[in-house]
Amino acid sequence: MSPADDPSEDLEVRRTVLDEHDELRRQLDQIDACLAQAAAGHGQGFVEARQRFHAMLVFFLGHLDHEEALLTPLLSGCEAWGPVRLEQLLLEHAAQRLEVAELAALDTETSANDWAVRMKQFGISLRIDMAGEEYDFIHPNALPRHPGPAPLR
Ligand SMILES: [Fe+2]
Repeated sequence: MSPADDPSEDLEVRRTVLDEHDELRRQLDQIDACLAQAAAGHGQGFVEARQRFHAMLVFFLGHLDHEEALLTPLLSGCEAWGPVRLEQLLLEHAAQRLEVAELAALDTETSANDWAVRMKQFGISLRIDMAGEEYDFIHPNALPRHPGPAPLR
């Protein structure tokens, strides 16, 4: 089997993206926990939520770049509407980059409550987007060299 036919390469991409999504979910959970503390009247919870958001932002932007680097060659060569799916991924990432930039800018320009609500909305939206990516782009049945049916995880 030549390297170009090796489905393990696609599965490695899949594993990498899933691992990064898991890390993002873990960081979103931490931010949610801080916001819950803030809502309960613990002022430090909000400060910590914003600190954790900025840490998550660095990881998230790196993830978008990494995901594009991994999936562009994979989807470009995929017969099952790969280029169309790649275009969708890039559009989705562009919208996410804009959304986090707006969220980061809100830090000093709006009230803590406004930021908290936007942050919660972003977290929900990001979780939905990641679930969609896992189904549309890296599910084994969606990969160009897929090794056959497999569970989602
Ligand atoms: Fe992603």
